[in-house]
Amino acid sequence: MTLKGRDITGVENLIDSFNRTISYLRMSLTDRCNLNCFYCRPDRCSNILSRESILTYDELYRLTTIAVGLGVKKVRLTGGEPLVRPGIVDFIPRLTSIPGLEDVSITTNGVLLRDNFEKIFAGGIRRLNISLDTLRRDRFKRITGNDCIDRVRESIELSENFGFKPLKINMVVINRVNDDEVEEMASLSLDKPYFIRFIEYMPVGINRRESLSKTVPISRIRKRIEKLGRLSPVQRQICDGPAQRFKFDGAVGEIGFIGSMSNHFCAECNRLRLTADGKLRPCLLKNIEVDVKGPMRRGVSDHELAGIFLKAVQQKPFQHLLTSPDAISVQGHMHMIGG
Ligand code: 5AD
Repeated sequence: MTLKGRDITGVENLIDSFNRTISYLRMSLTDRCNLNCFYCRPDRCSNILSRESILTYDELYRLTTIAVGLGVKKVRLTGGEPLVRPGIVDFIPRLTSIPGLEDVSITTNGVLLRDNFEKIFAGGIRRLNISLDTLRRDRFKRITGNDCIDRVRESIELSENFGFKPLKINMVVINRVNDDEVEEMASLSLDKPYFIRFIEYMPVGINRRESLSKTVPISRIRKRIEKLGRLSPVQRQICDGPAQRFKFDGAVGEIGFIGSMSNHFCAECNRLRLTADGKLRPCLLKNIEVDVKGPMRRGVSDHELAGIFLKAVQQKPFQHLLTSPDAISVQGHMHMIGG
């Protein structure tokens, strides 16, 4: 197959050993972040990658075109916080014009969105995920280390008015930290066109035993939210991802539940991750990484790079075992892997 000068003739599409087709690449643009959420960067970021060690935009572009040639149809830009990386708004239109790439979206904490959403929209992105774990100023400050909830909420409003759709709000629910806010958060969907997603906390990069007690199972979250009103299931669509979708009667927006721990969706996983420093990671919650930056910088061909993608996908495990008692901790924090 030749894609804009990329020759990867004869290389198969990305299908793993369990016959799952891999069509979704989550690309971390940077490990840096302007927030310090304690669950994502537990050590408040002692190890920041050097500028030379992260993939350049040209490298990211080259790898994306190869991935698209191998069947990837959807790319999500993550971080750290993708909007802290200089040049991202110029990179977005390059990405969205790759033939065959059907969807480019971005996950952001929203802090810098206020100043960038017009360029992001003009670059062709329509789907935004914004992280917001609390509606309370003091709590936001405690969770993120920054007193900027107003900026995030302003970004959400502006993005909504500008026409981003769907606008997903990610709330990571953490026991005794913000679990008492799930009802209030869910009720935002009544008169706002938001898709509020409740995400089970995943113990990544920290002492697993201690952190397992921080996870609130989706069943418990759902029970609390159902006290507000009847939740009707929403028909799933191909592009949906792992959320189970629901709606309150008469609501403008939706509710989603992502049970990465209690009800993992590994059997349907179509994802591959690329870390900011150029490692392919076939499973978020397993310590398997395949280096693609090293070979690329040593000058290997597109064909060989495509082979590295295939090798990474062949190593994709059937499922993560994070909840089993003998599971090993996941190394690398979320800000490195991209969530
Ligand atoms: N568990 C669950 N979700 C997490 N995220 C970051 N760290 C964790 C974790 N330990 C979420 C962020 C963001 C998305 C990229 O991943 O809140 O919404």
